[in-house]
Amino acid sequence: MRPRADPVTGPVWVLGAGSIGCFVGGCLQAAGAEVRFIGRPRVLSGLAADGLRVSDLDGRDDTVPPSALRLHESPPSSHTPSLVLLCVKSPATAEAAASLQVPPGTPVVSLQNGVGNPAVAAAAAPSLRVIPGMVPFNVAQLGPGHFHRGTEGRIAVQADPSLDPWRPVFERAGLPLDVFDDLAPVQWGKLLLNLNNPVNALSGLPLQAQLLDRGHRRTLAALMAEALQLLGRAGIEPATLSPLPWRWMPAFLRLPTPVFRVLAARMLRMDAKARSSMADDVAQGRRTEVDALCGEFVRLAARLGTTAPRNAEMVRRIEELTAGRV
Ligand SMILES: NC(=O)c1ccc[n+]([C@@H]2O[C@H](COP(=O)([O-])OP(=O)(O)OC[C@H]3O[C@@H](n4cnc5c(N)ncnc54)[C@H](OP(=O)(O)O)[C@@H]3O)[C@@H](O)[C@H]2O)c1
Repeated sequence: MRPRADPVTGPVWVLGAGSIGCFVGGCLQAAGAEVRFIGRPRVLSGLAADGLRVSDLDGRDDTVPPSALRLHESPPSSHTPSLVLLCVKSPATAEAAASLQVPPGTPVVSLQNGVGNPAVAAAAAPSLRVIPGMVPFNVAQLGPGHFHRGTEGRIAVQADPSLDPWRPVFERAGLPLDVFDDLAPVQWGKLLLNLNNPVNALSGLPLQAQLLDRGHRRTLAALMAEALQLLGRAGIEPATLSPLPWRWMPAFLRLPTPVFRVLAARMLRMDAKARSSMADDVAQGRRTEVDALCGEFVRLAARLGTTAPRNAEMVRRIEELTAGRV
């Protein structure tokens, strides 16, 4: 389908054309939206050569040909977006937001993990209308220009009138938005799940194999138990994002593997090759988001006048790994 600016909603910019940006932007463009992808040459060159392919575990397989893609290494000053999807990793948030020279009030949805990125973006670019979002599913780059959703879930966003006209656009793209008056509990819930990212990165295993290893689950359980205790002390109630209440999750993760395998069948429904993108960052020596994940609990502990030794240790191990000292 030829891309065009939606008559009601207009063009979308993906700022940070990586796994999430290319998958979400590709789904939107395949459904007819006009999308501009702003990213690094190493990603854009693959898109320019082979086009953008988006696939998922439910059988989606769409390709946008190279000739239909609008690719940029920085936000184009000659165009104006109606919506920006902020899809960079946490350490890049401030710089990316500050690079946006767009009309004041332009909605910018942070499709990032962690709980602090929307505030960081808003501080770096106060004229933007930054809206928190949460992506529950895993996306991996399977080849040049090929982005694959390997797990399930619906994107969640904080309620904002500027997003109302976009809901049918996302719906048509197969990405229906769940809208919350306050996204913070959802972000904290996702943050608890993301505590598995560094565990996965350190394991060297695909997600499914790592979750089927009791030792790795015990490490995750310890991180979660510490985090849950801090959230309780801070009076923060994380949204439940699985059928199990959070207070039972650490004990559930510690179950013997044969029992866990049966009871966690839904959680384990994923591509056998899916892995956390932190694993890729570690493999490629890039800065990771560990400070926005485990580091958030270290800071919460400090605010409460205590410590979070297990999460602090995880920050240290991942940062040492990417600094090449391990
Ligand atoms: N991947 C997943 O499965 C998944 C799932 C849920 C949520 N998330 C969250 O989604 C966010 C994005 O993750 P991701 O996995 O999509 O990351 P990613 O694959 O690393 O994509 C981000 C891309 O943006 C580029 N970038 C950084 N700053 C930029 C700038 N100023 N202008 C243009 N491009 C820039 C990065 O390049 P450099 O590497 O050179 O900086 C990278 O190519 C993260 O917060 C992540 O936690 C990811």
